[in-house]
Amino acid sequence: LLYFDHNATTPPAPEVIDAYAEALRDVPGNASSTHRHGQLARQKLEAARNVIAASLACSPRELVFTSGGTESNNLALFGLARKHVVTTTVEHPSVLESCRRLALQGIEVTFANPNIEAIAQQIRPETFLVSVMHANNETGTVQALTEISRLVRERRAAGQEIYLHSDGVQAFGKIQVDVSALAVDLYSISAHKIYGPKGVGALYVRQIVPLRGIQIGGRHESEKRGGTENVPGAIAFARATELLLNHSGRDVQVLRDRFEHLILSAIEDVEVNGDVAERLPNTSNLLFRGVPGETLLIALDTAGFAVSTGSACTSGSIEPSHVLLAIGRTADEARSSVRFSFGRSNTETEVDLLCQAVVEAVARIRKRKETGRPQLVAH
Ligand SMILES: Cc1ncc(COP(=O)(O)O)c(C=O)c1O
Repeated sequence: LLYFDHNATTPPAPEVIDAYAEALRDVPGNASSTHRHGQLARQKLEAARNVIAASLACSPRELVFTSGGTESNNLALFGLARKHVVTTTVEHPSVLESCRRLALQGIEVTFANPNIEAIAQQIRPETFLVSVMHANNETGTVQALTEISRLVRERRAAGQEIYLHSDGVQAFGKIQVDVSALAVDLYSISAHKIYGPKGVGALYVRQIVPLRGIQIGGRHESEKRGGTENVPGAIAFARATELLLNHSGRDVQVLRDRFEHLILSAIEDVEVNGDVAERLPNTSNLLFRGVPGETLLIALDTAGFAVSTGSACTSGSIEPSHVLLAIGRTADEARSSVRFSFGRSNTETEVDLLCQAVVEAVARIRKRKETGRPQLVAH
């Protein structure tokens, strides 16, 4: 199976697998124990924290390990939100659904369109938290985070208590992330999107942020996240972070651009979803008019290619992607869209094979539609 679904998850790098296995075997202690097993675990955990903090350009004391991007987002929102929260309509469910829950709990939440003007308009004197993702998982669109952080800092300079959180799960490892330069106050990351293991992530929490842990337990992670630390996970996450230095993202962008150029010149009625310029270098979300995305996905899967639609299939009915609807696509257009996300291991030959398969599948599906033959039904 040729894999073009790196925004869903990435295969762990061989060096990461080695580091993970070694840590499971050789670092069995609890990082809170006083004996030497505990001390070794603590030392390795802090070394891992240093590596990831250095990569984000923050202090290690500002980095809280979590069980992944979802927990990091949950911790940022439930651990900090008060009064009024501004977020956007294109966030990942771990932010969107958390915000809906906060609204049920009596916190006022505004879901703004994902652009700087709309976000600026929604920030009020009582706004306490702004949560805007750095890069979108479906379209790859990169938000103007530095401009948003400027807005937040202006408010703070005028005396308002207000913080900016960003879900950086898709951005970290694909574009430069420097939390100091971005001037965000909280930033979520996840290991499995950067060729690390699943189930480990981190939340950057700037020292000024009055975040309260939401997991009640021991005083781990500066009292911000109770629970015995996942030391092997953190070690493997750090190893994956170190490996980012060997990969600029440029190679992946060349592949993505080659793919998009080939498809757009070979197939009619195809459009790019999202901002073409302000975009992750690895993501291509394409609208194939008249082609049900699920049908194309299944045809490609059968031919040996893994891709994704942004849509979730709930009890037989295919929900159009909330992201594509939010950026102005119709339900029909959203259902005719497919996401291709490229990664480190992809080659030019693989991309050419993918293009060929997409061209053939789209032609076949459109022809079948014309001749009225029954469509494949996705479950
Ligand atoms: C933008 C974004 N945020 C959060 C998450 C959740 O991360 P995790 O899978 O580590 O819980 C994902 C991944 O699915 C994502 O793409």
